[in-house]
Amino acid sequence: MKKLAVIFGTRPDTIKLAPLILELQKHPQFFTLVTIATAQHRTMLDDVLSVFGIAPDYDLNVMSEKQSLSVLTQSLMAKLDEVLGKEKPDMVIVQGDTATTFTASLCAFYHRIPVVHIEAGLRTKDKYYPFPEEIFRRLTTHTSDIHCTPTAKASKDLMKEGIKKEAIYCTGNTVIDALQIVLRKKKIADDPVLERILLEEKKIVVVTTHRRENWGEPMKNVCEALHHLASGFPDINFVFPVHLNPVVREVVQPVLSGIGNVHLIDPLKYSDFAHLLSRSYFVISDSGGLQEEAPSLGVPVLVVRTITERPEAVRYGAVKLVGTDRKKIVVYAEKLLTGKKFYRTMSRAVNPYGDGKASERIVSALLYYFGFSKKRMKEFTPRAVQQ
Ligand code: UD1
Ligand code: UDP
Repeated sequence: MKKLAVIFGTRPDTIKLAPLILELQKHPQFFTLVTIATAQHRTMLDDVLSVFGIAPDYDLNVMSEKQSLSVLTQSLMAKLDEVLGKEKPDMVIVQGDTATTFTASLCAFYHRIPVVHIEAGLRTKDKYYPFPEEIFRRLTTHTSDIHCTPTAKASKDLMKEGIKKEAIYCTGNTVIDALQIVLRKKKIADDPVLERILLEEKKIVVVTTHRRENWGEPMKNVCEALHHLASGFPDINFVFPVHLNPVVREVVQPVLSGIGNVHLIDPLKYSDFAHLLSRSYFVISDSGGLQEEAPSLGVPVLVVRTITERPEAVRYGAVKLVGTDRKKIVVYAEKLLTGKKFYRTMSRAVNPYGDGKASERIVSALLYYFGFSKKRMKEFTPRAVQQ
């Protein structure tokens, strides 16, 4: 029997670890789980936990208003140190590229506990982009013992950095597992405002933005582009669940409040957001997760960034990097809204990131690592195009 500590703290890492927690719970003969929420996010984390019915064993409650990276890192380290010292797990599991991911993996290393890194190997190779996530992800690679990658490219990139092939498992991304779990459930939105929007016959464009590189002027440009699009296309509903970070809200609200067809709403529960996404015409976003989810639903994404650590869907044509230039965003959004051929090309559903079985593969990798199974898992290979 092995004790596994699963550590998460923000909306995206929790969405992506939830299916794995549910899968690990199916193997009580091999694993005991200790689930540790750092609560780097609060409401946005609690919403995800409620959707998947997960009640963490520990809640470190580290979020504070506009927390700086240094203060956040400090308080995460101190609190994780205490829990890992007390629980002494046989392994720590982290996901992605957040402050929680990095500090948990570093703290595990200090305690000489092996680390599994989920969604390993994504790189832009620019240390400031995304900031600070590129560095968090790279550093987590070097404190980790098992690297679960979403794609063959990520596996190759890890090998180029000297990570041994035997330690890399291409599992696909658990975000597709999460998406499939919530989309299998009910179709009615919990949020009444969203439900009303969904009942209208109008096309929906979903917008999200939160990246630190876009704080200030770039984010303002995105909002101004949206303002322009909303007046040019009054029959389109633009739905913008605004991140709870006050730095984001301070930019978004002054430019976009009070426009009839721009719906500035609070972040949605993952189940509601997934349904919104599946009903939307296209997405404008700087989110990492959305670049993975939307293509699998055949929903084009205009990414308001100039570089991405997720190039696979760009290569398939489902995602376009448009940057944060106001005019460029408008040009591409108008092309999607008016150009049928352009829309058709971008909206072919592709699934380079997963097939809904990533969590099963990760469990199989862990059983193999601990010697509970002699069979190494079969690597994930994407089906190129799905319709
Ligand atoms: C963080 C992650 C980023 C991830 C993003 C996903 C770090 C350094 N950054 O972004 O990698 O892509 O989450 O959303 O790990 N807040 C609330 N309630 C919440 C959540 C946030 O009020 O439920 C506010 C707080 O004032 C908080 C601020 O948002 O201080 C920023 O939180 P933080 O975790 O630093 O978020 P980001 O760095 O923006
Ligand atoms: N998401 C959500 N509610 C929302 C907006 C997004 O549940 O109102 C989900 C989305 O489906 C994706 C994840 O949150 O799985 C992305 O989180 P975010 O953009 O905050 O982080 P990133 O992926 O950029 O790290």
